[in-house]
Amino acid sequence: MTTPTSLVDLRPSGPFRLGDRVQLTGPKGRLHTVTLREGGELHTHHGVLKHEQLLGQPDGSVVTNSGGHEYLALRPLLRDFVMSMPRGAAIVYPKDAAQILASADIFPGATVVEAGVGSGALSMWLLRTIGPAGRLISFERRDEFAEVARANVETFFGHTPGSWEVVVGDLVEELPGAVGPASVDRVVLDMLAPWECIDAVADALTPGGVVLCYIATATQLSRVAEYIRATGLFTEPEATETMVRGWHVEGLAVRPDHRMVAHTGFLITARRLAPGAMPPDVRKRALKKPSYADEDVELWTPGAVGDRQITDKNLRKRVREAQRAADGARQATADAVTAGRGAPDDVD
Ligand SMILES: C[S@@+](CC[C@H](N)C(=O)[O-])C[C@H]1O[C@@H](n2cnc3c(N)ncnc32)[C@H](O)[C@@H]1O
Repeated sequence: MTTPTSLVDLRPSGPFRLGDRVQLTGPKGRLHTVTLREGGELHTHHGVLKHEQLLGQPDGSVVTNSGGHEYLALRPLLRDFVMSMPRGAAIVYPKDAAQILASADIFPGATVVEAGVGSGALSMWLLRTIGPAGRLISFERRDEFAEVARANVETFFGHTPGSWEVVVGDLVEELPGAVGPASVDRVVLDMLAPWECIDAVADALTPGGVVLCYIATATQLSRVAEYIRATGLFTEPEATETMVRGWHVEGLAVRPDHRMVAHTGFLITARRLAPGAMPPDVRKRALKKPSYADEDVELWTPGAVGDRQITDKNLRKRVREAQRAADGARQATADAVTAGRGAPDDVD
């Protein structure tokens, strides 16, 4: 057993050190992310910035490159990292991730199941919240997506958290073998057809546990709500949409931004009832005939709902990109350990 830990140490504060990831904002707001290395340099058509210029400087410093251009240097926040990391599948945006943590009531020490893992964006928010005492089991049916996610998580944390397990395979087939019945506190589904997984999720969830589905279209929302109701195993589902509108605040010019990320997805949550428990409203709704037939599932294929599919060639490129970044992070962690910052550890 090692001392509980140090995910926190791995997102350090204080002056920049070798191995730190640094986000540089240069001329015209152009962003560059670098991992600080001995002898490293950032080359742009504006000139050269040596990594050593940043070493020992406080987070939030401004440095000047060989061409006289200034760069603001900051350690990326998780929200910056997920927006710029390599993607295999579409990610959960920070505005939705924040709301998912609240609506699904993710807590330190929780046992959480997630599917699919996609590019690993949501996995990182979940891992940070459950901490080293929690357990996240992430299911993904496409091996290449799981590889991108593993590499992104390792790049961000500097190691693979011991609280995380990735299972490659379909959630419905793999879940019963991976967790005991009624043993999971929270389940988060981000996939095209979450209704296909609700029965398996109902078996895995502890009474009172929360299932949350993140879904892109209103038709999918309707389908999953009806499925959850028809099982009679959950409380009445609650659906929401999260909109975050930025504001321009400068002197007397105070107004909403002209542009925003508007629709990304809907969230729907419900809680697992105790075995045999059936409140009157749940019984009444469960008995209603659902409006969907099994054949309708075909209507939610990726093409039919307008999802752009990544090509195999592009996906292989993303895997390589993510793995290169993870190699850098692994090296940086090893350098940090050699330099005496201590090894990252989790609770065993
Ligand atoms: C939109 S992506 C998930 C993105 C992820 N939440 C993130 O933030 O990066 C949906 C993923 O679900 C996977 N998937 C769909 N159905 C699944 C199932 N039944 N079991 C496991 N994975 C599934 C797909 O392969 C895809 O990678």
